Amino acid sequence: MRKLWGARFDKKSDPLADKFTFSISYDHRLAKYDVIGSIAHTQMLGKQGIILKSDAAKIIAGLKKLLIQIESGKFKYDTKAEDIHTDIQNRLKAAIGKPADKLHTARSRNDQVVLDVKLYCLHHLMNLVNETTELQKAIVGFSKNNQEVIIPAYTHLQSAQVVLLAHHMLAYVEMLERDKGRLCDCFKRTNIMPLGSCALSGTSLKTDRQYITKLLGFAQTAANSMDAVSDRDFVLELVSTCSIAANHLSRISEDLILWASKEFNLVDIDSAFCTGSSIMPHKKNPDVLELVRGSTGKVIGRLMELHVLMKALPLTYNRDMQLDKPALFDTVETIEAMLKVVAGIFTTLKVKKPSAAWKTKDESFFTVDVMDYLIKKGVSYRDAHDILGKIVRECLDRGVSIASLEADQLKGYHPLFGEDVKKLFNPQTSVKIKASLGSTNPDLVAKQLHLWSERLHA
Ligand code: ARG
Repeated sequence: MRKLWGARFDKKSDPLADKFTFSISYDHRLAKYDVIGSIAHTQMLGKQGIILKSDAAKIIAGLKKLLIQIESGKFKYDTKAEDIHTDIQNRLKAAIGKPADKLHTARSRNDQVVLDVKLYCLHHLMNLVNETTELQKAIVGFSKNNQEVIIPAYTHLQSAQVVLLAHHMLAYVEMLERDKGRLCDCFKRTNIMPLGSCALSGTSLKTDRQYITKLLGFAQTAANSMDAVSDRDFVLELVSTCSIAANHLSRISEDLILWASKEFNLVDIDSAFCTGSSIMPHKKNPDVLELVRGSTGKVIGRLMELHVLMKALPLTYNRDMQLDKPALFDTVETIEAMLKVVAGIFTTLKVKKPSAAWKTKDESFFTVDVMDYLIKKGVSYRDAHDILGKIVRECLDRGVSIASLEADQLKGYHPLFGEDVKKLFNPQTSVKIKASLGSTNPDLVAKQLHLWSERLHA
């Protein structure tokens, strides 16, 4: 198979070297972007009179045919080509002959590969934003279907206070919204057109880089040719952003895995998203969520891989940089699959309402509400905390519930205690009396659900 650089060499490359250096097995994913970039490049070459307009027309017609093949899935990459850029070049030559030799004028694979990877990233950044929105919609839909449900909430994985399930779910929606913000930021910094930087110094040919920028819809043209060919910040930033998103998906998975256990008994994950055990017939395991959690480790590992890959590279292009692609593609494909599968789980997730109702009866959930009761009557926070601490300890020692204490027993702890304090030992009351902005108050949560529905469907 013809190499793009073969003429200088007096012998063929060793098959071992070929096997070790070829990237076609993974960079074939860039085929579409390579062709799109080449079409714009050729339009520019023709407009500027760097190549004949008739040659440009032949090249573009040939590339468009390749694009149709790629988009219809009929394109089978050639495993004997060094990389996808070589493969496309060779096919064009086979299809249109001599004019194909002019395609690579005023271009190097160094700027070409950055362009292709940037186009790939821009496409997938948009896709990731959309997939994240779909997941947010699934979570909001699940919340709306279970709007009245109250569940225990935890700090240190110890029962803390009760909250609306929807409030807990909207925490996820906020996390995912920040992921989208980071993806959009990354999009802005990726949206700078590198082509025309050539090998590293630019070209003496009269190119029009701004024209290519406009044709491809980039926001800006890279200002420094050396930076343009050696920059992989956008890959690092995308994978970094994805690693944070993966972290969120992992934490969401962990909550659901715990909640699906018999011990928590709060949700039932649809059988379509569970697997069984080869020995224990009763088991229904949350493997899908476990693999979301596990895949997060892989994505974080990919980020480390990229940092180590780039950390000591001298300017400008070094072949090491070819290895950014397995890390990038794996991250993007993994996170897209994770987003989809978690959305599927929320769409089919069931809440075990009787169990949630039973679990939220535990009166230790309401000690802060009782503290607030005293504070509202003028007791200091410190005194209220001490009083409640004492009540909890003594009730635990005596094996009695706080709600069972008689009025005079309560008054023994503080004279401002009245019978009405007992109304506080109730999960519905507990969420209802929350008044602060951003709290689990049902009216506020309903408003948030409404806002999110509008925003996500806009
Ligand atoms: N497959 C290579 C890559 O992805 C193409 C660039 C090769 N450039 C070079 N100057 N050897 O990085």
